[in-house]
Amino acid sequence: MKKAWKAALLATFAVGAIAVSGCGGGSGSSGGGDLPQIGMAIYKFDDTFMSGVRARIEADAKGKAKVDIVDSQNSQPTQNEKIDLFINKKYKAIGVNVVDRPAAGVITDKAKAANIPLVFMNREPTPEDMKKWDKVYYVGAKAEQSGEMQGKILADYFKKHPEAYKSGDGVLHYVLIKGEPGHQDAELRSKYVIESLKKEGIKVQEIAQDTAMWDRVKGQEKMAAFISSYGDKIDAVICNNDDMALGAIEALKAAGYFQNGKYMLVVGVDATAPAIQALKNGTLLGTVLNNAKKQGDAVFNLSLVLAKGEKPTKENTGFDIVDGKYIWVPYEIVTKENADAILGDK
Ligand code: GAL
Repeated sequence: MKKAWKAALLATFAVGAIAVSGCGGGSGSSGGGDLPQIGMAIYKFDDTFMSGVRARIEADAKGKAKVDIVDSQNSQPTQNEKIDLFINKKYKAIGVNVVDRPAAGVITDKAKAANIPLVFMNREPTPEDMKKWDKVYYVGAKAEQSGEMQGKILADYFKKHPEAYKSGDGVLHYVLIKGEPGHQDAELRSKYVIESLKKEGIKVQEIAQDTAMWDRVKGQEKMAAFISSYGDKIDAVICNNDDMALGAIEALKAAGYFQNGKYMLVVGVDATAPAIQALKNGTLLGTVLNNAKKQGDAVFNLSLVLAKGEKPTKENTGFDIVDGKYIWVPYEIVTKENADAILGDK
């Protein structure tokens, strides 16, 4: 963080905190009656990565804003109702982790009509929807970057360990466990991991792919099915997130992998705490940090600035605002070597 804008940012927040100290009352994460009210609709509470983002938003809000965070229960109609309520309550800004990406346009129309700024997060609206109004923002990470990083982790491994090509033909035979179809992170991670492997000069062949909807139990089921159909023909398991990778690892363990020399290379994305544990145990080869804390900070800082009627800048949010609308939080490669460092400062 550069000193000048760090100081400016701290000053902004300090003034906000002083202005409201002693107000008392209110509910949720903030407590103060005069604090700006912000609504946040998360696509579903039962999602590991988004739980991390949510926890950070709640922590950041203390003493600065009254944040009403609601569970859309993975249903777009439920989310729409929650957003209508936020609008009726005249909240000053609204954060949306949209359930179905195409719904972003209608949500934008409603917010625009009520003149309430919107911050989308994690599920990226189309550029057309983003252009519908100048008070619409997006906080996320570049999905293609995470795919490229997974490819790099696998390519590095295969270059060092040619014996890992189980069929001995110099071709990486993989299965892919995909997140929710249509989600930019599922589509682009799946595409770029393979492109990146090819760019690194690795020959690849897909054995099978299926979706496990970001879910650990589904990941385990899909992997169990892959093992019974293809077994030892699989060199690597590419998963769009860590929960599915951890599920796959469970299925592999049940089939006798990770013992007596029987091994499988598994990669994920997110760098959740249990995934870092799996890296250390040696069951997960690598993952990519999807920085929940920084994304939470960006969503909260941006929403607060908007709720106060200010124009977001690097100085008052702490993040670069790209093309006037986007905050991109970078991904980072995580392997056994840097796992502890990542855990320490993520
Ligand atoms: C992705 C994340 C997944 C899941 C998904 C929800 O960025 O890697 O684990 O949380 O978002 O939209």
